[in-house]
Amino acid sequence: MQEKIEELRRRIHEHNYRYYVLNDPIISDYEFDALLRELQELEARYPQFDDPNSPTRRVGSDLSSGFVSVPHRFPMLSLGNTYSEEEVREFDARIRREVDEPVEYVCELKFDGTAISLTYEHGRLLRAVTRGDGSVGDDVTANVRTIRSVPLQLMGDDYPDFFEIRGEILMPHSSFERLNREREDIGESPFANPRNAAAGTLKLQNSAEVARRGLDNFMYWVVGENLPFQSHYESLQAARRWGFKVSEHTRKCSSIEEIFEFIHLWDKKRETLPYDTDGAVIKVDRFSLQQRLGTTAKAPRWAVAYKFKAEQARTRLRSVDFQVGRTGAVTPVANLDPVHLAGTVVKRASLHNADQIALLDIRLQDMVYVEKGGEIIPKITGVDLSARPADSRPFEFIDRCPECGTPLVKDEGEARHYCPNALHCPPQIVGRIVHFIARKAMEIDGLGEETVQLLYDHALIRDPADLYELKREDLMALPRLGEKSADNILESIRRSREVPFPRVLFAIGIRYVGETTAKNLARQFQNIDALMEADEETLSGAEEVGEKIARSIRAYFEDPENRRLIDRLRAQGLSFELRQREDATDRLQGLNFVISGTFERHSREQLKELIERHGGRNLSGVSSNVDYLLAGAHIGPAKLAKAQKLGVKMISEADFEQMIAEEGETSPDGTVGRVSDSEGSDRPETSQEAESLTSNGKNIPLQGRLF
Ligand code: IVH
Repeated sequence: MQEKIEELRRRIHEHNYRYYVLNDPIISDYEFDALLRELQELEARYPQFDDPNSPTRRVGSDLSSGFVSVPHRFPMLSLGNTYSEEEVREFDARIRREVDEPVEYVCELKFDGTAISLTYEHGRLLRAVTRGDGSVGDDVTANVRTIRSVPLQLMGDDYPDFFEIRGEILMPHSSFERLNREREDIGESPFANPRNAAAGTLKLQNSAEVARRGLDNFMYWVVGENLPFQSHYESLQAARRWGFKVSEHTRKCSSIEEIFEFIHLWDKKRETLPYDTDGAVIKVDRFSLQQRLGTTAKAPRWAVAYKFKAEQARTRLRSVDFQVGRTGAVTPVANLDPVHLAGTVVKRASLHNADQIALLDIRLQDMVYVEKGGEIIPKITGVDLSARPADSRPFEFIDRCPECGTPLVKDEGEARHYCPNALHCPPQIVGRIVHFIARKAMEIDGLGEETVQLLYDHALIRDPADLYELKREDLMALPRLGEKSADNILESIRRSREVPFPRVLFAIGIRYVGETTAKNLARQFQNIDALMEADEETLSGAEEVGEKIARSIRAYFEDPENRRLIDRLRAQGLSFELRQREDATDRLQGLNFVISGTFERHSREQLKELIERHGGRNLSGVSSNVDYLLAGAHIGPAKLAKAQKLGVKMISEADFEQMIAEEGETSPDGTVGRVSDSEGSDRPETSQEAESLTSNGKNIPLQGRLF
């Protein structure tokens, strides 16, 4: 049995590699899931063959471990940095002087993440350690194991018994944007850039959360004694064969001109990469030459980093606005004299928080430098002190809320100021209601941010419960609101009473309680009364709830106004307990869906819920992980093209209804039956289906029919 388990692990490792490193899977996700499930079952039955490097362990755990300090066998040095092409020329000249023979270089991208050192023993990942102070780092193995592009078991048989490989853990833009959206949703401050997000994620105590955040990596240096290679380039090729993710953009160069070609190419083209890079690294290729050149105390003498300059503009800071968000967080925003920067005109820039302003000593009327980083809003990165007006005075951060006048507070360890007047500060009230009606919360469509503001300005609403008391004539009295929109709004408010408990819990906007936490809490406590009664200790024992969230939940329920709100919402018929659905099934078990477009009989949120109710999963983007694209009218052309390219099956609303219908039940389009499986239906192809074959030969069903 041990052999069977190991064979399965080997096969899964290989498929993982093809999927996450090569982007070239050779089996369907369905087949992959079947393999993984088989392994999970065997592992559960035979725990004696347990292995921490099993591919089933990629999901991580929420066991908190703290980090053990581990000394590096070889110190983790840094690199000589330069922004000047002249210094790159000097580097090359020095090398050629010292070695007195033809020199080849390897040019690589400089990935902007956080450095990691991985140790492999007999082809298995033994340890992952952060850089730390260069001689001692933190053991973050449990977290790194969850990164799917890091091999747990190497391929081939020519790797050294024991070696280290170094590289960068990074957060791709897509993961970064999703993470920050989620954080803002629950009142957490967003990460300033993907680098911070990657470093912060690697140090989490909950590897299940790490797994969820979508880190990636590139490896760029095989380290060890007596490596069986003559050169760096050769070692990278080998590392790639063993299953590591090694950048395909790495180039061998033999002249300074080629080096500059590489630098100039990527200085422009890096914009198109799905992750941040901040320069190029130039390394002497041959190990014998590297050895001859040696290292200083800080950095190797055989490598240099050329840093790309961020595009920068200089302009005058005219004034600062303070915005108050739903959670009361105060964000300073700079108003600038308009200036051109990287193709757009910039008038406003983020100042982050008071500490940042103090650190850079930014003052009104200063000439400041603005840059575009990974973020969309440009930021102020410095001040031109030589142009500072003589009468300038240090910037004074406000001490009262600009909206309601309440003295601001700043918690220890928090960079931001908050307005504590949560219940009566207007933007906080409006923000809370906007959050309440959002698609992922109560889904009161028809009612947007502007209308909420309007209703607030007309003193028609002060909290979410007021929405349920709105009358037709209240709405009709508002400017620009016709009869039809008023009725739509009332209808969607009425419908929202059907929203299930987890979403109601998310909608009431307890700080730090996002969609996932709300789902977990609802599952574990079943109803709001049990949740209200739970003490901090019980709460922090719940799945994925730490002390901070537990404290925030307690604080929320201790406030009598919040309790009153819940009573009123309950009286309006909102759902405050998990309904044991008798209609839940596993018909969609193991299937992943993406929904796109608009539908006749269901809203998208309803479809999502149906998918979950029947055991399926909702994914946000089309990838080869997706089994079905549930396509409505007006589906985005990009999504459509991608689905066709990847051969993702498309189904209509009616097809979907069939899939979840009881055996023999008739669906609205009159067809009967249910789909048994995602893969390889063995029904003969009808002529109609043959017509629906697309150019790449994948079967795209006709609207309203089974595929
Ligand atoms: S080589 C002896 N190659 O940049 C140092 N480093 O500024 C060996 N980095 O600590 C590092 N991309 O975290 C190397 N292609 C690359 C890199 C790279 C990013 C980071 C790395 C290092 C820092 C030095």
